[in-house]
Amino acid sequence: MGYVGPGVVRHLRQAFPKAELIGYDLGYFAHCLTGTTRLPETRLDRQIFGDVRAVPSGLLAGVDAVVHLAAISNDPMGTAYEDVTMEINHRAGIALAERAKANGVKNFVFASSCSMYGLGGDDAKTETSALNPLTAYARSKVASERDLAPLADDHFRVTCLRFGTACGWSDRLRLDLVLNDFVAGAVATGEISILSDGTPWRPLIHVLDMARAIGWAVMRPASNGGAFLAVNAGSDSWNYRVRELAEAVAEALPGTTVRLNPNAAPDLRSYHVDFSLFRKLAPHAQPRHDLAGTITELHQQLLAMGFRDPEFRSSRLMRLRELAALREQQALTADLTWVPAPPMPTPAVPFYRSELMAND
Ligand SMILES: NC(=O)c1ccc[n+]([C@@H]2O[C@H](COP(=O)([O-])OP(=O)(O)OC[C@H]3O[C@@H](n4cnc5c(N)ncnc54)[C@H](O)[C@@H]3O)[C@@H](O)[C@H]2O)c1
Repeated sequence: MGYVGPGVVRHLRQAFPKAELIGYDLGYFAHCLTGTTRLPETRLDRQIFGDVRAVPSGLLAGVDAVVHLAAISNDPMGTAYEDVTMEINHRAGIALAERAKANGVKNFVFASSCSMYGLGGDDAKTETSALNPLTAYARSKVASERDLAPLADDHFRVTCLRFGTACGWSDRLRLDLVLNDFVAGAVATGEISILSDGTPWRPLIHVLDMARAIGWAVMRPASNGGAFLAVNAGSDSWNYRVRELAEAVAEALPGTTVRLNPNAAPDLRSYHVDFSLFRKLAPHAQPRHDLAGTITELHQQLLAMGFRDPEFRSSRLMRLRELAALREQQALTADLTWVPAPPMPTPAVPFYRSELMAND
C-alpha cells in the first residue's frame, strides 16, 4: 500500500492472471492516493491490514512466493526512526523469511537497494563490490541480505533486487525521490532546487520496471543465478548524476531554472552501478522506460491532478512528513504501531430510545 506496491499488483495480476494475490500492509500511507479513483488493492484477491512484525499464523500457508516490500523506506525516515527501521526492515524481514521457508514458500523476493554501495566514486559497482552503507536505511538492507543468504536453498530461492532510486507515476506517488521532486518543483514553482552540488551519481529505475523485475524474480529457478541471488536491478543507461537529472527536467519543461547549492555539505551517497548481471540473468525483464518519457509522464499526471503546491516538500507526498503528521495526531506510537481509536463515550441518553425516533 505504498509507492511501489500498486504497480507490482497490476503487473502480477497481468502476468499471473490465475494467481491468488494477497496483500499485507500496515497502511501508513494507504490514504495518500494520487490521481486514481480506484483503490489499487481492489486488484488483489485479499488485502489484510497487519504488521510485518506480527505476521498472523496461517497467512503464509499454501503461498508460493512472497514479495517483501514493507519497510521504512528512505534515509530521512531511517534517521528519524533508527531503531524501528532496523526492527521492521531487518529483524521482521528475516523472521518473515524464516516463516515463509517453514511454510514451503518457494521464492522470496526482497526489495533491496543500491544505496548499500554508499560512497562509491566513479567506477561502476558490481554485486561483488565492497558495501559501504552510510545510513540506517542502507544498513538495514545490508543486514537483511546477509541474514537472508543462509536461509536460501534449492527449495527456498531468495532474490534480493538491489534497486536504484525509484521514479515515475504511481497511484501513491512519493515526491521524496530525486526525479519526482525535480519534476514537482518545475511544475509548482518553475524552479528545481538541488540540495547538493549536483555531482553525486544516482542510478534510477521506473517504478513499473521494478514491478517487471519482481515478476521475473517470483518465478526464478535456482538454476538461474543460484538459490541466493543479490543482483543490481536496473539498467546501465539509467546511471545519472543528480545535476544531469535536473537539466533533463529543465529541458523538458522550458522556463525551468535550476538552482545548485554549491555550499551544501557534500552528499556522500554517490554510486554508479553495473547492471550487467541482471541483463544476463533476466533478459526479458529489462527496464523499458526512459528518462524523457518518465519526465513527460510525471509532468502530465501532476498537471492532471491539479498539482501546484510550492510547499510540496513539507506535504503529505513526503513519507517522513506523513509519518510525523500521524505521530503528531497520536495515531501512531513511537514504535510506529497504530493507536486504536479511544472507545466511544457512552451517551447519557441511549440514542435508540423510541421517543427520540418519534418524528422519523
Ligand atoms: N522507492 C525507492 O526509491 C526504492 C528504491 C529501492 C528499494 N526500495 C524498497 O522498495 C520497498 C517499497 O518502497 P516504497 O517506495 O513503496 O515505500 P513506501 O514507503 O511508499 O511503502 C512502504 C510500505 O511498507 C508498509 N510498511 C512499513 N512498515 C510496515 C510494517 N511494520 N508492517 C506492514 N507494512 C509496513 C507501509 O505501510 C507502506 O505501505 C521498500 O522495501 C524500499 O526500501 C524502494
